[in-house]
This record gives sequence, structure tokens and C-alpha cells, in this order.
Amino acid sequence: MQTPDPFSILASQRRSVRAFTVEPVPPGLLQQLLQTARQAPSGANLQPGSFIAVQGEARARLSTDLVAAFKAGQQEVEDYTYFPNPLPSALRRRQVAAARALYGALGIEREDRAARDTQFERNFCFFDAPVALVVTIQKDFGSGGYMDLGMTLYGLMLAAQSCGLATCAIGALASYPTLVRRHLGLQADSAIVCGMALGYADLQAPVNQTATERCAVENYFRVLG
Ligand SMILES: Cc1cc2nc3c(=O)[nH]c(=O)nc-3n(C[C@H](O)[C@H](O)[C@H](O)COP(=O)(O)O)c2cc1C
Repeated sequence: MQTPDPFSILASQRRSVRAFTVEPVPPGLLQQLLQTARQAPSGANLQPGSFIAVQGEARARLSTDLVAAFKAGQQEVEDYTYFPNPLPSALRRRQVAAARALYGALGIEREDRAARDTQFERNFCFFDAPVALVVTIQKDFGSGGYMDLGMTLYGLMLAAQSCGLATCAIGALASYPTLVRRHLGLQADSAIVCGMALGYADLQAPVNQTATERCAVENYFRVLG
């Protein structure tokens, strides 16, 4: 077998990290990572999407209100559709496997709704990462714009990984677009795509033992002709 190339190693070592040390991210590094991530290609080079680092009191207030909204069972209409609804059974199986990997690492039983909710609330605190990002896109972008932004997001994850940092994208944030816009002073034409937690992984944290799998290449690749 061929020796894996540096990119393959980097990509295969990336994991979503949901607990961080208190070590701060050095000043300027985030901007550097974003610049690297923005080397991603985009249709007509439109470079869609923006990143807002939320800090201090503003971050604390945002998290408090998000947790309160979640606990109260508040619901908002999201700015974009993420998953097929209903989920076809093959996709549902993958969703269940990912949930089992996460909650299994934490020793949370499937039926333990309260413990699952407590973990879910962690999303709204950006998993206490030193850097909390909110990712937005101009609302009238279609799927192509989200595709372009996704490339930048992955670029950011890998750029971070390459510098010894870790990340977790937080789609849960997109559940409360109006609340997030209000806190960030954004107009209605900014769609809330997701959040991102970024910092140094707490390698001892049980949640970071979560390990997901990928389906075999035959499942999503075929040769025709
Ligand atoms: C756009 C996006 C949104 C996500 N949202 C969440 C989230 O809200 N909460 C969470 O714990 N993980 C979230 N994840 C992480 C996924 O669950 C994770 O990427 C997937 O299970 C594969 O695991 P891995 O990243 O460790 O390889 C998100 C990932 C992506 C790409």
C-alpha cells in the first residue's frame, strides 16, 4: 500500500471536537486561518458567506438566550433546508449511527432524553470553545452559494487542524435565525448558516472520543462506460 500523503493524513485525523482547553487562540491566527480557508474556489469567484467572531458579553448573552429558547421548546423557521424531510431510511441509519457515536462516548442511553438535551444545549454555548463563530450568507444565494461556503468551512476546519487546532460546525444555531440576527445586529437579508467552535481540543474529554465512520466508496461512486 502507498504511504498516505500529508493531506490524506490531515483529512483523516480531523474530528468534530466538542470540548476544548482554555488555551486562547493566538491573536491574528483566526484571521490567518480564514484567509487560507477563503482560498476555496467559488462560482464566478463570488466568495459568498461571512464569519462573525462573537466574544465577551455579546457571546454570553447570545448563548443564554439560545439555551433559554431551546429549553422553552421555541421553534423558528430556518433560513434554509438542510435535510430531506422525511429522511429516507438509509440516511436515517447514518444519522442514528452518528448520534450513537456521540451519546455512546458520553455514556448516554438512547432513551435518556434529559441527558441528550443537556448535551444538545452545549451547541448553543459553542462547546465553551475559545473562539465562537457565526457563519452567515446573503439570503438570496441558492444551493450553489451554500456549496461554495461549505468549501470554505471545510478549508477552515483543515487549516485549523493543520495548526493543531480543532473545530466543530454547529448547525444547531440555524434553528434560531431571528434570535441570532437580533443579537448580532444583522438585517433580515443575512441567512444564518451555522456556528463554529474553534480552539485546542481537550483530549481527555469523553465527548472527544466520539468516532464516526464513513460508508464505503462503492456507496457513492460508480463508473459508467
Ligand atoms: C454543517 C455542519 C453542521 C453540524 N452541526 C452540528 C451540531 O449542531 N452539533 C454537533 O454536535 N455536531 C455538528 N456537526 C458535526 C457532525 O455531526 C459531524 O461532522 C459528523 O457526525 C461526522 O463526524 P466528524 O466530524 O467527527 O468526522 C455538524 C457538521 C457540519 C458539517
